[in-house]
Amino acid sequence: MIITFASSKGGVGKSTTCACIASALAMEGARVLLIDLDQNRTLDRWAKKAPIDGLTVAAIDPQKFGGFFRDAESSGDYDHICIDLPGSREVTLFKALARSDLVVIPAQASEPDLREALVVVSDIRDVGETTNRAIPYRLLLTKIYPLRTRVTDFAYQELARHGLPLFRTALVERSAYREMFLNGRPPTVSEAGKGAGQEITNLLAEIRSIVDASKADIRKAG
Ligand SMILES: Nc1ncnc2c1ncn2[C@@H]1O[C@H](COP(=O)(O)OP(=O)(O)OP(=O)(O)O)[C@@H](O)[C@H]1O
Ligand SMILES: [Mg+2]
Repeated sequence: MIITFASSKGGVGKSTTCACIASALAMEGARVLLIDLDQNRTLDRWAKKAPIDGLTVAAIDPQKFGGFFRDAESSGDYDHICIDLPGSREVTLFKALARSDLVVIPAQASEPDLREALVVVSDIRDVGETTNRAIPYRLLLTKIYPLRTRVTDFAYQELARHGLPLFRTALVERSAYREMFLNGRPPTVSEAGKGAGQEITNLLAEIRSIVDASKADIRKAG
């Protein structure tokens, strides 16, 4: 699978979710390449703290993304590629979208985040039209409060109003997601089978079923 984590809004949880999903896939025994396109190199630093077997993290100069991606994909060295984008709308966003089996758009349950998510959705549709392929995407609510609030209700209403597809799994505001950048340990290690670890397991199951369904559709159409 090629999964891109995108949002032009900063700090919504792109790198966190990308690291969690990439490490969960690697811990299942897959060979995973995580491409860190963020100039802050958050994930490159994270991966050095507690390396995970099967997970390769490569911090790439955005200018070199196209060639690097092609070589990585054709090498046959990886079962999955996860792409972490910077929180800005730039050319690598469009290049990554065009190559994705699924785009995950993290957003907090707030008006500015949802507005920014709509911009990404519009970009995905544009790239889909240009490449003549519907690119699957889902919004992922992140850093939500465990109890329902007026803000989360508003977010769900807005998503329904715009017809935006949403992951059933949402990532709750939890210290395990922050601590992973301090100690390197992803939630599937630090909270295996509970809390944040369970959320990531559930999210990965959803990701897999969406990608499988979309690949089955493509096979039928072809
Ligand atoms: N579910 C969560 N619970 C608690 N903290 C979280 C959660 N998700 C992300 N964070 C924290 O929020 C901050 C921003 O997250 P992250 O770096 O993943 O966002 P980003 O979208 O990649 O930002 P940027 O656009 O700057 O790259 C980090 O400190 C991270 O630890
Ligand atoms: Mg980031």
